[in-house]
Amino acid sequence: MLKIATMGTSQITHSFIDATQYVNHVDVVAVFSRNEDTASSLAKKFSISTHYTNLADMLTDSGIDCVYVATPNTFHFDHVMQCLKKKKHVICEKPMFMTVDEWSQAYEEADRQGVYLFEAMRNLHTPNFKKLAESLNQVGKVRSVYLHRIRYSSKYDAFLQGEVASVFSKEMGGGALRDLGVYPLSLVIALFGAPNSSTYFPVRLHTGVDGSGTLVLEYDEFNCVLMCSKLSTSYNYGEFQGEKGTLIIDNPAPISQIQFQPIKDESQLLKTEEPLPNMSYQIENFARMILERDEHAYHYYRDISKQVVSIVEGC
Ligand SMILES: NC(=O)c1ccc[n+]([C@@H]2O[C@H](COP(=O)([O-])OP(=O)(O)OC[C@H]3O[C@@H](n4cnc5c(N)ncnc54)[C@H](OP(=O)(O)O)[C@@H]3O)[C@@H](O)[C@H]2O)c1
Repeated sequence: MLKIATMGTSQITHSFIDATQYVNHVDVVAVFSRNEDTASSLAKKFSISTHYTNLADMLTDSGIDCVYVATPNTFHFDHVMQCLKKKKHVICEKPMFMTVDEWSQAYEEADRQGVYLFEAMRNLHTPNFKKLAESLNQVGKVRSVYLHRIRYSSKYDAFLQGEVASVFSKEMGGGALRDLGVYPLSLVIALFGAPNSSTYFPVRLHTGVDGSGTLVLEYDEFNCVLMCSKLSTSYNYGEFQGEKGTLIIDNPAPISQIQFQPIKDESQLLKTEEPLPNMSYQIENFARMILERDEHAYHYYRDISKQVVSIVEGC
């Protein structure tokens, strides 16, 4: 059994705890908040016996194996390092780090302490991602890829009235690429590896963050265009276009529709049913890697995280 504690009490932590309830061999045993009322009400909502308002106390609790970190992006490095130094495995929300230097220091610390560190890139752990990866050879030689994550933010109306949520704040490491663009970016890296070059064209808000943007990745035989935005909504599909046909997906995170359109034939629906909440698949996979000490899979995911942070840092 993997015993998990959480840090951060916004909606994503509620979704994470809810998703653990569908996964075997994991249990959320404690929550942390800087505020007593918030900590106790989150613990009460999910019938969790222990809550903390002092992080050092939580990290010395020997009944905790792993910490889920869901604080604003610029705090991830400090919070992750504190957990690792106390020999806790860590699942950190995306984007895990702001720089490759942070990435390197954290993984060195994880290795030193003999624990695992994961980026919660939920879209890489689902049955439909697996289905997409297995189906890619059907398109033949890939010639063009277009993916996007473009959704009008529920926090943008307040931003226009002067209230700056973390996702629109430079100090908190916000911006469309770090918040949404990392989903299609990590998906492309997982499927094709690191590109030869990357160029980002941001649309900046007055806070200095990118409210939207277009990232162009150059590979040997094709280019990939990734669009992200928190200022508008897209109803387009993403496409992997090849010489024998096109794979069409509704969304890089979560993928709920996959269709193959051969150049000269009828289209086929390829999607897989996903009965669990979208976040459950990553939790299941992280717990399995930790409990089975699956070094091979662990290195696969950490390498993707490194490629993603190195591209985003340069944007
Ligand atoms: N995977 C997904 O689908 C998904 C969706 C949304 C967000 N996220 C990620 O989740 C993370 C949190 O994003 P968010 O928009 O929820 O952020 P947020 O609302 O600004 O903050 C999240 C939580 O962090 C804690 N916190 C805030 N400032 C802190 C500080 N200075 N020191 C320690 N704790 C602090 C707060 O909890 P307390 O006040 O209770 O301590 C707060 O509830 C980000 O990395 C984001 O990218 C992922």
